[in-house]
Amino acid sequence: MSRYVRLTSLLFFFFIILIQLVFSQLSSNQRTTMISLSELLINSTWNVSTNPNPCSWSGVSCSPDNSSIIEISLSGFSLSIYDFRPFLCQIDTLQSIDLSNNHLSSIPDEFITDCGKISGLTGLNFSRNKLVGSLPTFRGFRMLENLDLSHNSLTGNISLQLDGLVRLQSLNLSNNQFNGSVPVKLGRSSVLKELQLSANLFQGEIPKEIADYQNLTLIDLSVNQISGSIPDRFIELSKLEILVLSLNHLSGQIPQFLSNITTLQRFAANQNNFTGMIPAELTGNLRILDLSYNILSGSIPSNLVSHPNLQFVDLSSNSLEGSIPANMSANLVRLRLGGNSFNGTIPSSFAALRKLMYLELEENRLTGPIPPELGSCQKLLLLNLAQNELTSVLPVQLGNLNNLQELKLQSNRFAGAIPIQITELQSLRKLNISWNSLSGSIPPSISNLGNLTNLNLQENNLSGSIPESIGNLNSLLELQLGKNLLSGKILRMPQSLQIALNLSSNLFEGPIPVTISALTGLEVLDLSNNRFSGEIPDFLIKMQSLTQVLLSNNLLSGVVPKFRDFITVDTNGNKELRNATTLSPPSPKKRKAVAVGVVLGVAVAALAVGVVTIIAYSISRRFYRVNDEQIQSQEEFSQPQVIQGNLLTANGIHRSNIDFTKAMEAVVNPSNITLKTKFSTYYKAAMPSGISYFVKKLNWSDKIFQLGSHEKFGEELELLGKLSNSNVMTPLAYVLTVDSAYLFYEFAEKGTLHSVLHR
Ligand SMILES: *[C@@H]1O[C@H](CO)[C@@H](O)[C@H](O)[C@H]1NC(C)=O
Ligand SMILES: *[C@@H]1O[C@H](CO)[C@@H](O)[C@H](O)[C@H]1NC(C)=O
Ligand SMILES: *[C@@H]1O[C@H](CO)[C@@H](O)[C@H](O)[C@H]1NC(C)=O
Ligand SMILES: *[C@@H]1O[C@H](CO)[C@@H](O)[C@H](O)[C@H]1NC(C)=O
Ligand SMILES: *[C@@H]1O[C@H](CO)[C@@H](O)[C@H](O)[C@H]1NC(C)=O
Ligand SMILES: *[C@@H]1O[C@H](CO)[C@@H](O)[C@H](O)[C@H]1NC(C)=O
Ligand SMILES: *[C@@H]1O[C@H](CO)[C@@H](O)[C@H](O)[C@H]1NC(C)=O
Ligand SMILES: *[C@@H]1O[C@H](CO)[C@@H](O)[C@H](O)[C@H]1NC(C)=O
Ligand SMILES: *[C@@H]1O[C@H](CO)[C@@H](O)[C@H](O)[C@H]1NC(C)=O
Ligand SMILES: *[C@@H]1O[C@H](CO)[C@@H](O)[C@H](O)[C@H]1NC(C)=O
Ligand SMILES: *[C@@H]1O[C@H](CO)[C@@H](O)[C@H](O)[C@H]1NC(C)=O
Ligand SMILES: *[C@@H]1O[C@H](CO)[C@@H](O)[C@H](O)[C@H]1NC(C)=O
Repeated sequence: MSRYVRLTSLLFFFFIILIQLVFSQLSSNQRTTMISLSELLINSTWNVSTNPNPCSWSGVSCSPDNSSIIEISLSGFSLSIYDFRPFLCQIDTLQSIDLSNNHLSSIPDEFITDCGKISGLTGLNFSRNKLVGSLPTFRGFRMLENLDLSHNSLTGNISLQLDGLVRLQSLNLSNNQFNGSVPVKLGRSSVLKELQLSANLFQGEIPKEIADYQNLTLIDLSVNQISGSIPDRFIELSKLEILVLSLNHLSGQIPQFLSNITTLQRFAANQNNFTGMIPAELTGNLRILDLSYNILSGSIPSNLVSHPNLQFVDLSSNSLEGSIPANMSANLVRLRLGGNSFNGTIPSSFAALRKLMYLELEENRLTGPIPPELGSCQKLLLLNLAQNELTSVLPVQLGNLNNLQELKLQSNRFAGAIPIQITELQSLRKLNISWNSLSGSIPPSISNLGNLTNLNLQENNLSGSIPESIGNLNSLLELQLGKNLLSGKILRMPQSLQIALNLSSNLFEGPIPVTISALTGLEVLDLSNNRFSGEIPDFLIKMQSLTQVLLSNNLLSGVVPKFRDFITVDTNGNKELRNATTLSPPSPKKRKAVAVGVVLGVAVAALAVGVVTIIAYSISRRFYRVNDEQIQSQEEFSQPQVIQGNLLTANGIHRSNIDFTKAMEAVVNPSNITLKTKFSTYYKAAMPSGISYFVKKLNWSDKIFQLGSHEKFGEELELLGKLSNSNVMTPLAYVLTVDSAYLFYEFAEKGTLHSVLHR
């Protein structure tokens, strides 16, 4: 009996030893420290009773033999106080500390003193916290190589605070509010490789002393207030790979010597005041060149776009002239030359660009036809030739561009019929051929374009009737057919229409077609300048989403029915039409039952529409001033104070285009208001890339809004963004400010996306 007891306890003892051997060889010191840490940090994976080996806790990395802890990431642990510090800084084997994505508001002296002693620490990450005040002086940290303080609210200037960091290789201070001149004391030994200072308030000239850091591979000074020109000494940066100077006040010429830096792959100097000609050999080694939105002049050097490494070239919005060079890199993926004064014809050599995905030549003076060879650019997603002086018929070869998603040919002088081949572009989402001289009828095969969201055929000479098949365009949000010679019966319209249905200035006659009543999501209806007759039908009043009804200059008669107050109605120029007398008849009681039925029906429909609407509805319930029809009586002119901004979309194009700072500048300018509806105000925000987005402002009452709701709102929007089944109604990004939320949507000209939330 006692033998059994002894055996059992012996086994138990071995078992304990075994556990220790298998799960952890950490010194008991580190183990104890980690257990103390885990008791502070509420995180389910940091639980010693379910997960005895700290090396397996999420965010913890150990040396290969598990004898010591070398990395700790407390990223996203909602930390706001430093009670973890005494334990964390005790782990003297640490090489990396990641405290990013928390709510820390400062870096206290104790942290610098204690963690600064960890002799092997190479990485320190405070990115995306709430750090305020000035940059602390880093003492100790003898081995620190990577310091990331980006996305905080640090202020003041930078002089010697970082100079003690003798091993510093990568410094990220982007997205703060540092001011003063661009810092040059960045570690006495000048081993710095990556300098990321974008989105601050740095001013003055680019200091030539930066060239002392001859190992620099990356310099990003974008989105600051830096002026002057690019220092000559930059030619000494013989390892430089990336130079980003976008969105500053830089001026002078683009220096020729950049072509001598053979390592340089990416050069971006867009949105500055650079002048003069583009140096001939600039692109000798470049992969990416962005000089858009400057004042560059002269013609494009003949070999500029021919170098085989080149993939992305953006020269849009300058004062460039001459012809588009025929000699182009076969590896080009994106070419943007819009908003210049290029003339001559579109070279047929585009046929060789088999990797080209984005071709934007809009707003120039290009003449002649679209070369049929363009049909060989099989990868094209976007073709924008709008606002030129292009002529002739549209080549049938456009129908070969199987991947094309946007075709913009508006404001040219194209004539002839719409080629049927265009209706074979299965991926097409936006088609704009407005403001041309196209004739003939709208091909019934247009219904093949199942992905089409925006169709604009306005201001042409199209005749005949609208094909009934158009009703099959299940994704269509906007249909612009104004100013043509269309006539006949309006049989069926796509039920998905939201942004606008524009049939104005055509030859339509007879009663306002009842088919319109099915368009329950429609916001803008324009039937003006036709020969519609009869009374204004009651179903228009019941269309819940309408904000604008344009019926002017028809032959309508009877009494104008009472539309809701926030709807703009234009009925001018209908001789037989009378306004209702101000006395409105009392509403009959018996209607009530019907109304309840309708409400129930709507509720059931809302359920059927799915998760998106429900989430959206719950958001709207929480954050809208539902009863307040008075939309922002006075505009705020001060820039909204941003609490949080996040990208929701996975689409790389949008991710690189969307710029929160720029958007917040746009929303303080009333001239950017595109539309006000009952619940929200829509702004057009032009991004640095030149692409515009809709930014929708949701107003929430200070009373409803409580601290802490921001996070919840953010989470719900993240979820909304991840639901891929809803396309255009999905916000691409959001920004939360002290008293509002802003949602980003793809921009669509003329009209607006139907509000996700008041559907
Ligand atoms: C626990 O930590 C992981 C990894 O850092 C993180 O993704 C998760 O959100 C944390 N959970 C809580 C409740 O903080
Ligand atoms: C750790 O896990 C145990 C068992 O699941 C649980 O009872 C305990 O509450 C957890 N501790 C923490 C701090 O989450
Ligand atoms: C170290 O710990 C991890 C995580 O628990 C484990 O997967 C790994 O096998 C351990 N390595 C050694 C050498 O014990
Ligand atoms: C710091 O953390 C952020 C967010 O977790 C991450 O994106 C960034 O790359 C990290 N910085 C460095 C230098 O590793
Ligand atoms: C900050 O910049 C460094 C160096 O370029 C980079 O490695 C890091 O990922 C950046 N941090 C964030 C949050 O983007
Ligand atoms: C930094 O700011 C201090 C005071 O705010 C000022 O005296 C100093 O000249 C500034 N230094 C630089 C480099 O701008
Ligand atoms: C650049 O890096 C190399 C090796 O990484 C080093 O030997 C050299 O001293 C550095 N240059 C400067 C100017 O610090
Ligand atoms: C360019 O210069 C003009 C005139 O000096 C100025 O109004 C404008 O703001 C400058 N633009 C930039 C981006 O610095
Ligand atoms: C740049 O390289 C060219 C030859 O490739 C040379 O003639 C020129 O002097 C170099 N420029 C500078 C400033 O070194
Ligand atoms: C293009 O414009 C330039 C002046 O910018 C002019 O000299 C040239 O003749 C024009 N070419 C064509 C084909 O119109
Ligand atoms: C929409 O486009 C995708 C490719 O992007 C294509 O596979 C699909 O067939 C298209 N849908 C319709 C209805 O044409
Ligand atoms: C009806 O009223 C509107 C505004 O109240 C006015 O603009 C319009 O001219 C009136 N129309 C007629 C026919 O009286």
